[in-house]
Amino acid sequence: MLSRGGTSVEAVEAAVSVMEEDDTFDAGRGSFLTSEGHVQCDALMMCGKTLRAGGVGCVERVRHAVQAARLVLEKSPHVYFVGPGAEDFVHSLGMDLIDNSELVLDRERARLAEAQERAAAGLQDATFSGDEAGLPAEFASHDTVGAVALDREGNLAAATSTGGTLNKTPGRVGDSSLIGCGCYADNESAATSLTGWGEPIMKLVLGKWACDRVGEGTAPEAAARESIAYLHRRLKGHGGIILLDRKGRYGIAHNTPQMAWALRTEQIKAADTVRSA
Ligand code: GLY
Repeated sequence: MLSRGGTSVEAVEAAVSVMEEDDTFDAGRGSFLTSEGHVQCDALMMCGKTLRAGGVGCVERVRHAVQAARLVLEKSPHVYFVGPGAEDFVHSLGMDLIDNSELVLDRERARLAEAQERAAAGLQDATFSGDEAGLPAEFASHDTVGAVALDREGNLAAATSTGGTLNKTPGRVGDSSLIGCGCYADNESAATSLTGWGEPIMKLVLGKWACDRVGEGTAPEAAARESIAYLHRRLKGHGGIILLDRKGRYGIAHNTPQMAWALRTEQIKAADTVRSA
């Protein structure tokens, strides 16, 4: 997309759409299920040039939440839509609505049943504690997706999309679609996308925190590391971050056991995917 002259907004939408379609990830089809067995998605897209943003929360009938987020960014004076209102808005602009069952996998039904058995057996606290001893079982599986991009015009953009956390209460919104939490972009600082347990990331407004470090002069590589250290120091949170500035410098850090990421630059022609431990 970028090598053909596309914008950073188009690029992050394209990258995140691919990952939403791939049932490997907790976004779109294959997402974790709510306690009632539905997929309920959140997504945000932000343009670093204009600071326009579009977010959707708790959407169930949209195949690509990131594409819905782009419609909000481009077609609405508002920034954030939730639930049926979000679905009606994007449908009015021509997006097809689907049946939620198209997003639900048997794999996730089994995972939900297991989580609910664990909760019934009194293991809920360990699952939600987020500290080293009680690292949530979900970290052994898959998580939120996101992308950051810098285009030929020097404009940054970011997008994040998620099905949220396993066995979440319907209506719960995490960090991913909240501006400055799981996603942020500003040409004057950086673009970022985060993954991990959303509540600690929200409490620290960690995406904006990371971008501000870059705006103050910290290199993205150091700012990414500092952000994850801050997340753990303040709230014993676990997560991962990708961070990109207008010079094309990037930072990647995580304190979860794994985070899959890929990088594409003018110099690196083939996507270089690394599953880091
Ligand atoms: N980071 C995804 C969530 O907590 O919803």
